[in-house]
Amino acid sequence: MNEQQIDLVQRAWDQLSYNREQFTHDIYSALFRLDPSLHTMFSLPPERLAQNLARTLNTVLTSLHDLDSIRFIIVSLGAQHYRYGVKPEHFAVLKAALTEVLQQHLGKRLTPELAEAWSQAYDLIAGLMLEGLAQAAKQQAS
Ligand code: HEM
Repeated sequence: MNEQQIDLVQRAWDQLSYNREQFTHDIYSALFRLDPSLHTMFSLPPERLAQNLARTLNTVLTSLHDLDSIRFIIVSLGAQHYRYGVKPEHFAVLKAALTEVLQQHLGKRLTPELAEAWSQAYDLIAGLMLEGLAQAAKQQAS
């Protein structure tokens, strides 16, 4: 991701700040609609899920300029997801849910450049989480 793309994503995140928990709540709704079987993995009430995700997205998105400083946290979060039963292919479903909800919340403000910047931000974060997921799977197998 280049600096301009990071700025684009951070500005959009600011624009969503009026209702971040609704935004993350809608991501879960879209996720469960796209793949209803994922529902059984979750135990927390929807408000808690939305709060947790909004908080984490805020930390991650405001640190995009210096992702190395929180790299370890994201990789560990990925490893934690192994215990939830998350599989690598689920990250694509979440990406589809995120894309849909960005469209819903930003409307015309979601330009192709902004959509591309979000896509790269997601891939970056998901890539680190997948590293953690793979490490946890390897540890389990050894
Ligand atoms: C960039 C991608 C993701 C981020 C940033 C993320 C973030 C989080 C966070 C912050 C938590 C709460 C952890 C805690 O409070 O201890 C969590 C829990 C969880 N995540 Fe993710 N996650 C991501 C991808 C996924 C994917 C792809 C799935 C599977 C569809 C998933 C399923 C879960 C489940 C099942 C929980 C446990 C919730 C519960 O106990 O009810 N996550 N995630």
